Amino acid sequence: ADLALGEQVFNGNCAACHMGGRNSVISEKTLDKAALEQYLEGGFKLEAIIYQVENGKGAMPAWADRLSEEEIQSVAAFVYKQASEALW
Ligand code: HEM
Repeated sequence: ADLALGEQVFNGNCAACHMGGRNSVISEKTLDKAALEQYLEGGFKLEAIIYQVENGKGAMPAWADRLSEEEIQSVAAFVYKQASEALW
């Protein structure tokens, strides 16, 4: 995974709803570590982020047909790092 690519993918596709790691649709479901531990299916794991990006959930669209495998791996790694190190 390429973190610079991940940041680019995030800004182009995710920031519309997740600017600054927030969630403009369901405000408590942020991309902070504590929120991911609480709400993400599978908990705070890289694989769980990849799964949700590929498949979507509720009002969040699925990206499997819109982003390449490399883009999905990279954006998930970017989100995981931002949350792990409280960089949002
Ligand atoms: C939830 C990532 C794009 C709307 C989440 C969560 C992650 C995530 C990791 C889990 C957060 C949590 O449970 O606390 C991403 C990434 C995106 C993306 C990496 C780009 C590839 C979007 C877009 C929208 C959106 C564009 C709005 C149209 C939502 C909503 C939830 C959510 C509504 C809550 C889902 C639920 O549990 O019901 N997102 N997201 N996301 N995202 Fe996204």
